[in-house]
Amino acid sequence: MTLAGSRMGALSFLNKKPDMNGPGKGGGLLGWLDRRYQLTALTEFLRHKEVPLGSHWMGWYYLGGITLFFFIVQVVTGVLLLMYYQPGETTAYESIRFLTTKVPFGWLIRSIHSWSAHLMIISLVLHMFSTMMLKAYRPPRELTWVSGYLLFLLTLGFGFSGYLLPWNKLAYFATTVGTNIVASVPLLGSWLLQVLRGGQDVTINTLYRFFAGHVVILPLAVVGFIGLHIVFIQRQGMAPPLGAKVAPRGMKFFPSFALRDLLLWLACLMVLLALAVFLPYGPGIPGMDWELGQKADPLAPAYPGIKPEWYFLWEYQLLKEFPPHLFGLEGPQVCLLLIALMFGIWGLIPWLDRRVRRDQPSPAFSDFGWAALLFLTYLTLLAWDIGAGAASGAGDELTALRNIARVCAWWTLGAGALVIVVRYLRYEHRWFLLSGAALLQVTLHGLVGLTYLLAGVISVVLAAVWIVVAHFVGSRTDRRSET
Ligand code: HEM
Repeated sequence: MTLAGSRMGALSFLNKKPDMNGPGKGGGLLGWLDRRYQLTALTEFLRHKEVPLGSHWMGWYYLGGITLFFFIVQVVTGVLLLMYYQPGETTAYESIRFLTTKVPFGWLIRSIHSWSAHLMIISLVLHMFSTMMLKAYRPPRELTWVSGYLLFLLTLGFGFSGYLLPWNKLAYFATTVGTNIVASVPLLGSWLLQVLRGGQDVTINTLYRFFAGHVVILPLAVVGFIGLHIVFIQRQGMAPPLGAKVAPRGMKFFPSFALRDLLLWLACLMVLLALAVFLPYGPGIPGMDWELGQKADPLAPAYPGIKPEWYFLWEYQLLKEFPPHLFGLEGPQVCLLLIALMFGIWGLIPWLDRRVRRDQPSPAFSDFGWAALLFLTYLTLLAWDIGAGAASGAGDELTALRNIARVCAWWTLGAGALVIVVRYLRYEHRWFLLSGAALLQVTLHGLVGLTYLLAGVISVVLAAVWIVVAHFVGSRTDRRSET
């Protein structure tokens, strides 16, 4: 059977008309529902649905479901929190304090909500990178990628808006710093800042806006896009291994895959509960800590060293690496343009990866995924001040920063070398140009001591020259072998 053939008939039960005179399945409630809604067609569809067994590890196929599980936990615990939370200048902080100290198991619900938010982002990022590496975005699944990409952005919005809701000191200053970045958007900056904050500064109006976004706008948008994402997947089936011309061997979705999914959801629930009970305020690492602390006080001076959640740390660090002015623009403006460019490229991957569109292997894009991961790792480690302990004896601040950069560089180089060796030996990959460029930048910045930007420019230029030369040599060799 061809792949197109195997997809035919998917979701055809949606077109079925009610058959009020038909036998239905069974006589009771099920038969009654079946005559109206053609449930047999749905169970038939589920019985025939299969998940392709490819050359890759099946585990990657469960990550989307795990992300969905954590989102459901978010909705359930979020509704429970809403029963006590009251947004307002004199109520937001107080209601969370009351919830965590007086309401039976209130602390546990808050802890589950916070842990599940972090675990959802971890599984979401893993899911996104796994579908990227498996090239599951190739035609006809471009819109599955785009809907997932929008879900990723919306989920980051959840994290950002939820952070302010306890109205404590840390959240207040972190949101002030975070929203300040928006002011650097060229042309629209001050207008966007006004819209986001509901005024010039972070005030209780900002809390009302974030609250509306967190509990109404974002959930509606996420539920809509999850629906779309899943309809796309059901309609087209899961992506078969690259290059498969006939339908590969498959695992029955129901019951084999669904039961495995369920088992994993139970395991995730156990892990989530254990974490929430034993670490109710998070593991205590920067960006993963939800101790309530003191109430927000807009008049108090901001204290130094405020950092965002761990998944925003790379942007925070990148902003720090830019000088105040560059190319006649403000440094943060150039940085935001670069971040927008990177996000734009990521969203358009299904169209940029032209080899995979012809169903050919595209090693450059696998390497691009790894290069992106190394880039994010290095910046996140720097923002975490990994190696600050070793640097504490250093005299001036610059020497301390150099020490941190050196330690972070060694960790990233170690991880990069491991990835390259595994890809080479286990998966026989031979294309390492972009991950090599990412590691070169790490070396030039962390070990040689060049500025982050100069190291980046040198690495990008060298990689670009290499690609152009390789392309030129490749096409000349092709022409010679044709003549
Ligand atoms: C709330 C967020 C998300 C949820 C709940 C979700 C859920 C799912 C589920 C249940 C599947 C089918 C099983 C699987 O492959 O794991 C899936 C597949 C897929 N997802 Fe997501 N997803 C989310 C975000 C994303 C993101 C951020 C991307 C990429 C930018 C993405 C891209 C894809 C692709 C390309 C597939 C098809 C996989 C294939 O055909 O093999 N998803 N998603």
